Amino acid sequence: MHVKSIQAAGLSALIAASVGTTALAAEVNIYSYRQPDLIAPLLEAFTEETGVKTNVLFLNKGLVERMKAEGENSPADLIFTVDIGRLSNAKNEGVTQPVDNAAIKDAIPENFRDPEGHWYGLTTRGRVVYASRDRVPQDTITYEELADPKWKGKICIRSGQHAYNVALIASMIAHNGEEETEKWLAGVKDNLARKPNGNDRAQAKGIFAGECDIGIGNTYYVGLMQNNEKEPEQKDWAKSIKVLFPNSGDRGTHVNISGMALAKHSPNKDDAIKLMEFLASPKGQELYAERVYEYPVDPNAEASETVKGFGEINPDSLPLADIAKNRPKASELVDKVGFNN
Ligand SMILES: [Fe+2]
Repeated sequence: MHVKSIQAAGLSALIAASVGTTALAAEVNIYSYRQPDLIAPLLEAFTEETGVKTNVLFLNKGLVERMKAEGENSPADLIFTVDIGRLSNAKNEGVTQPVDNAAIKDAIPENFRDPEGHWYGLTTRGRVVYASRDRVPQDTITYEELADPKWKGKICIRSGQHAYNVALIASMIAHNGEEETEKWLAGVKDNLARKPNGNDRAQAKGIFAGECDIGIGNTYYVGLMQNNEKEPEQKDWAKSIKVLFPNSGDRGTHVNISGMALAKHSPNKDDAIKLMEFLASPKGQELYAERVYEYPVDPNAEASETVKGFGEINPDSLPLADIAKNRPKASELVDKVGFNN
């Protein structure tokens, strides 16, 4: 739904109020970086359960800038996005407000939410190793090992400056310190089969084509490739790889989140929080996670069969808020070691 219809809905609510109807139409306006079809099943379930309607404004970019420009008149109630960088950026730019709600906090582990309640994770995705089924015999790996010269000329990865890699490198800084991480990153760069390029799926394609043995990518892309009817060749890319969960034997695999935040000037705050409660519930998390091939943040909620098929994940328990703090340093290191050159 577009902004125009949001405004129209607001207007009809106003008219309804002025002619003396008992209540305003209950609705929640969502500004989303996630494609509407990914969140539709979830929102439909919410409307069915509560009678509260939802309007989605999908944005490719500029969500925060738009909210800042709209200021107090912004119709946005909730923000939906992926990546800890974007969530913490929304908070830092002042377009969110804290939510202190027992049900939401109970359903979302502490490490996957902002300590001040400005954002909440709903699903997680592991940043894992895609390994060639034919050419990589081992079934375990660590991120540290990616710098081992045994992988010389064998690793494929997208740009080091992409948010997914910046978050991974930020987590390495959090665990191993800046100096160690710089050495590590230079080591990984020395092992690259080609200049960083493409998206995560392009790394699986590289393995399928024999250009590399190891790729770095997010878990959900495996599900997207396995079930891709539009581009069925992606099913072959998926078949050529196995998923290795780095560091599952020690600190756990680095994960990132998709999440939600309450808009600073939310005009429908009560209903927005109702939707946040629904999304945070095990049912909400499961519906969402299934649609996007991700893991629910609540360890008591169940992942889908497809996702379970990737293998068992043991997520790194370090708070994502702490990892987010290292993002600027991580980005600097990428340039310093000339990772993308
Ligand atoms: Fe992605």
